[in-house]
Amino acid sequence: MSRKLFIAGNWKMNLNCAGAVDLAKALVKEIGGADSVDLAVCPPFIYLQTVKAATSGSRIAVGAQDMFYENDGAFTGEISGAMLKDAGCRYVILGHSERRHVIGETDELTNRKLLKALADGLDVIFCVGELLAERQAGKTLDVVSRQVKIGLEGVDKAKAQRITIAYEPVWAIGTGVTATPDQAQEVHALIRKLLADKYGKDLSQTMRIQYGGSVKPSNAKELLNQPDIDGALVGGASLKAADFVGIVRAGL
Ligand code: 13P
Repeated sequence: MSRKLFIAGNWKMNLNCAGAVDLAKALVKEIGGADSVDLAVCPPFIYLQTVKAATSGSRIAVGAQDMFYENDGAFTGEISGAMLKDAGCRYVILGHSERRHVIGETDELTNRKLLKALADGLDVIFCVGELLAERQAGKTLDVVSRQVKIGLEGVDKAKAQRITIAYEPVWAIGTGVTATPDQAQEVHALIRKLLADKYGKDLSQTMRIQYGGSVKPSNAKELLNQPDIDGALVGGASLKAADFVGIVRAGL
């Protein structure tokens, strides 16, 4: 079994063009050559090409934060997987909690996007996670199971290898409250089991499951030390070069 750690920064709707370039350049300088961990940054669409240029020649890949499930046509405001590939993206984040709970995206829509992203040759960071009320009602494992099952419907074994699942409990995102390593490990182990049931044990052992939700340099190591935590999807702390570098170094 080998699962290389994968640390990705989700910049969300932050920064301007100059700020995105500065951040990308600072990361290239500090960790652009790190080869024992996979790295990616996910800027807003409009800065993808600029950030791609700023990271070129480094080991930092670029990903988008969403995409649409059609190739082209009359879909005002949307962007296709082919366009993301054209801009130099390797990854796309799908099913992020802000897409689900702020914009209103469903499991079925997320699945449709995910199938298209894989068909378009993008590697997917597929996010799942429960709301605070769902955790308090003891429904965490049910919610995550449903999201994983519907999200991965129609994904065969060959394509599944190109998916990283990100477990991001919604109550931990941007709140400063991190899931404890035990809380995170419990859900990651469940996700691993769902993957084993669907794709077999061998493949499930190679698929990466990231944790996201208030990851910081100070808590990264103990989270990343859990047996089923294979990386981090970092929001707020990925906007400061020193913090993101600190998280990556905790994983090295
Ligand atoms: P924070 O690290 O800001 O909690 O955000 C996590 C996240 O949503 C990453 O996708």
